[in-house]
Amino acid sequence: MEVVLGALPSLIPKLGELLADEYSLQKQVKGGIRFLQSELESMQGALEKISGTPADQLDNQDKIWANDVRDLSYDIEDSVDTFMVRCKGRKPANQPKIRRKIATEIRDIRARVEEVSRRRDRNKIDAIVAKPATTAVDPRLLAQYKKATEIIGIERARDELIKIITEENEVSMQQGKIVSIVGFGGLGKTTLANTETLDERQLIDELRVFLQDKRRIFADDNCPHEELYEVSDKILKKCAGVPLAIITIASLLASKQKTKMVWYDVYNSVGTGLEKDLDVSTMRKVLSLSYYDLPSHLRTCLLYLSVFPEDYKISKNRLIFMWIAEGFIQDGKHESLFEVGESYFSDLINRSMIQPVDDSSHGFITEHCRVHDMILDLLCSLSNEEKFVTIFNGVDHLAPPKVRRLSLQSCKADHGPPGDSMNMQHVRSIVAFPSAYHLMPALRRFKVLRVLDLQDCDLSGRDLKYICYLIHLRYLGLNATEIDLLPEEIGSLQSLQTLDVTSTKIPRLPLAVYQLRRLICLRLDMSIIVPNGIGSLTSLEELSDFHIDSSTNIIEELGHLTELRELQMVYHTKHEGTLVKSLLCKLQKIQNLDIYVTGNCNLDGWVAPLHIRKLRLLGCWFSILPDWMNPSHLANLSALSIRVREIQQKDLDILGMLPALRSLGLKVDHENICNIGRVISIGACSFPCLKEYVLWGYSGLVTFQHGSMPWLTSLWLEFTVQEAAKITYTETVLGLGLGYLASLQKVFIQIRSRGSIRDGAVEEVEAALRHVAEVHPNRPTLTIYHT
Ligand SMILES: *[C@@H]1O[C@H](CO)[C@@H](O)[C@H](O)[C@H]1NC(C)=O
Ligand SMILES: *[C@@H]1O[C@H](CO)[C@@H](O)[C@H](O)[C@H]1NC(C)=O
Ligand SMILES: *[C@@H]1O[C@H](CO)[C@@H](O)[C@H](O)[C@H]1NC(C)=O
Repeated sequence: MEVVLGALPSLIPKLGELLADEYSLQKQVKGGIRFLQSELESMQGALEKISGTPADQLDNQDKIWANDVRDLSYDIEDSVDTFMVRCKGRKPANQPKIRRKIATEIRDIRARVEEVSRRRDRNKIDAIVAKPATTAVDPRLLAQYKKATEIIGIERARDELIKIITEENEVSMQQGKIVSIVGFGGLGKTTLANTETLDERQLIDELRVFLQDKRRIFADDNCPHEELYEVSDKILKKCAGVPLAIITIASLLASKQKTKMVWYDVYNSVGTGLEKDLDVSTMRKVLSLSYYDLPSHLRTCLLYLSVFPEDYKISKNRLIFMWIAEGFIQDGKHESLFEVGESYFSDLINRSMIQPVDDSSHGFITEHCRVHDMILDLLCSLSNEEKFVTIFNGVDHLAPPKVRRLSLQSCKADHGPPGDSMNMQHVRSIVAFPSAYHLMPALRRFKVLRVLDLQDCDLSGRDLKYICYLIHLRYLGLNATEIDLLPEEIGSLQSLQTLDVTSTKIPRLPLAVYQLRRLICLRLDMSIIVPNGIGSLTSLEELSDFHIDSSTNIIEELGHLTELRELQMVYHTKHEGTLVKSLLCKLQKIQNLDIYVTGNCNLDGWVAPLHIRKLRLLGCWFSILPDWMNPSHLANLSALSIRVREIQQKDLDILGMLPALRSLGLKVDHENICNIGRVISIGACSFPCLKEYVLWGYSGLVTFQHGSMPWLTSLWLEFTVQEAAKITYTETVLGLGLGYLASLQKVFIQIRSRGSIRDGAVEEVEAALRHVAEVHPNRPTLTIYHT
């Protein structure tokens, strides 16, 4: 049942810190802390064991005990954090009041811990379920069903839905595919985004192939695969062809032993009956199986997603920084907390608990996710049961006595704000959405708030002065709030890790922000004036929407921020960009670099670090493609947008081998190069995962060979009428080979007509292009520009 271990994972190491000399606590108090440490460790062990057990299999005593422990852990952490924050910058030895207070609190806590333990001894936990800790899903399976998942859950009435499907059917049948969504019309609530999917039978076949593949993998566990046929058929019948159910159960099975018995266990735990139609409760069972199979740290992180409303596009970084602020992420050995959080995020994607959203505006990199309605339903109900998040979304729930997290999503007319009777003193996170912002309690009612996220709420004219009392605050999200003043008092938020003031009306960053030495993420707005001093924020890992002009020496200060992983900035300068180059040379941890420099900035000689993932350098030039842009150096590069004076066939051959590249933008400068008539050919098997290809300024033509860019959806090209005309008249009609780009959906062509052009030439080129688009199997949209 218990999803989570409360604050135990972050609390236990903190108790260790308290023993350090820095806090100079009395011997007796230290003794109390050591006692708590060992007691809480053993509690965490026991909690971990029962936490993977579904609620209906736990007895009441266990539930009560687990609840007590979690509650206790939150309270202890609040005390410890308060003590630590108060001691900041002072010698506790000189703070008799603070020390006396912590001594009393430790005594009280000790008594509570002992009481909880005694109660547990009186009601021993017997049945404990062991479980494996890891699961992975074959990404091929995910790719296969990615489209299919989009069809689950439909808001429209069942009849209307069936109508749509029947109409679709004729088209689909011609392509040898049958749409089957029967059995759960009206169940979910996302739109019917894509009716093309596989029927149940095909899904089963696919899954079989997948499972057979896996057995290749598991060749040595001498398991005759026939014995799994029957049970896998049964399991799949239970999934009723619902892709989400199939994907989640496949992810789960992949982690289990490949034996009939183990699989029958899974089958039996899904519930009985209803094998034709998948009803809500069976679906819930399937999903919760995967949920309980998660290790406890992932369960906690996943449950936190219940703060977001249905169908919400959740930013990955926003989520991870919230997790960090809540203390859900434990120290990595060689990685930053953020990187550990990122691995949790991709783990949740791999297990199909969240869906990646990778859209073109982010270079097709996964920067967002969504939670499927049915999974969100499950999370909200668990969250409510576990008193993890108290959600205001128009459904009346009884608020727990100690609210730890509050999500204000929407409200019914008769739904009042959290009344004075609701205690805000223990709230750690509050996330408010615009339609429920009026329910937001006054800030002074909060005492231990860690996360305050008001993104998109209208705060124009609001005064946030009170914020300075929220000394535990680690995450302050004011993105798109219209707030126009950040108070100087913000300097007192010594624990702050994330400050997001993107899309606000704040004219100038208060100097006090530079006192926030724990800041890891600072998101500004291009319009905010940034005073000198940013170089003191040496913990920063992310700095974005940052605008500097050449009149300041901030560009040099940035060189101190050597922890930066993500930098997004605009730099206005009239000088040669040598300062930019020397800055980039210092940022050895950079992974996402997105800069726009006006002026004349040459980057020859700079070498990007190995782990670079996104490189967008606008306004800066390389003379030729640098040597380090090759597959062995750039194994993880997903998005590349650069300017290179001149490119050759071999450059495209090399870029085509970058294994992770999803978006490529190249601007070349062939304006003054006269050897018109060169053709660059994109070879078969090159650009294995590219989705977007932009090439500006190239004077020759680009042709695509069969099997190149198999995933390319968007293509942007530019060419001269003269060049195009040459090809137009060959028998292949504009033989660029666009027909070979099997996934193509959008084509943007810029036609340059310089010099003398024969009458009608432009029209002929246009007509030829339109013809190419029309005969392409996908019928991509074609947009033509003229310059
Ligand atoms: C998720 O799956 C991908 C692709 O198989 C793999 O590269 C990655 O390491 C996995 N991530 C985690 C956290 O398991
Ligand atoms: C900030 O808010 C805007 C508007 O809601 C949103 O589009 C954007 O993604 C947000 N930025 C971040 C970093 O979350
Ligand atoms: C590439 O990404 C993988 C997965 O995130 C990571 O394990 C690996 O260390 C990265 N490689 C480099 C060179 O950064």
